Amino acid sequence: MADVRVYSNASALARAAAGFFAEEAALAVASRGRFCVALAGGSTPVAAYEAVASKHFAWRIDWSRVHIFWGDERCVPPDHPDSNYAMAKRTLLSGADIPEPNIHPMRTDLPPEDAAEDYAAELKRVMCETGDCIPRFDLVLLGMGADGHTASLFPGDDLSGHEGRIVVATRGERGGHRRLTLTLSVINNAACVAFLVSGVEKEPALTQVLRGAPPKPPAGLVSPKDGRLVFFLDSAAAGF
Ligand code: 6PG
Repeated sequence: MADVRVYSNASALARAAAGFFAEEAALAVASRGRFCVALAGGSTPVAAYEAVASKHFAWRIDWSRVHIFWGDERCVPPDHPDSNYAMAKRTLLSGADIPEPNIHPMRTDLPPEDAAEDYAAELKRVMCETGDCIPRFDLVLLGMGADGHTASLFPGDDLSGHEGRIVVATRGERGGHRRLTLTLSVINNAACVAFLVSGVEKEPALTQVLRGAPPKPPAGLVSPKDGRLVFFLDSAAAGF
């Protein structure tokens, strides 16, 4: 059952999501000695990341125990304006004292398919005690497009081809960059998944995700097997 939290506007959503990030980090560090989080891309998380790195929240987090990953990435250089790494660096990483080895960007300098394999190996290196496992994030942050895509899993993608994979290269949005993305296997293996969704244009897809009948868009297929699912919404996206 999803935990749906609605806020009056995007700023209140961002502050609440930042507080949640800090709480989850403290919980993970206290119980497992570290906090492995996959960041969402796009524009909605910007204010939340800035809040996490602000004096209100940053002091609550033992950054030396935090490992930063990405849920998806555009196949562009790390300094490209469309790069999710660049967005996170500008909003969160530059304000947090995270050891460089704990920041795990996707290798967009490699061909997409090679980059996907490389990232899968990195996830296993850091998160699997034995050589092989489905990595279990403490927290996966996700956004959602107006079409119900999440991470870089888009409606119409052949998700059956992701069986047994933890990271794949996808076509991305029509006319856009090719993408790299965690698969649903990894996302649904997380201890906690939190969506950040804001804006009236998201309301129809969100209704389908939360209350619609199948077939659901990729965001509607996120259902942690043994974890929590939380939606941080503003009232516009929630249809209030
Ligand atoms: C990306 C994101 C993507 C994003 C949605 C919503 O790389 O673009 O991972 O899934 O979360 O497209 O984007 P906005 O927050 O900009 O609406």
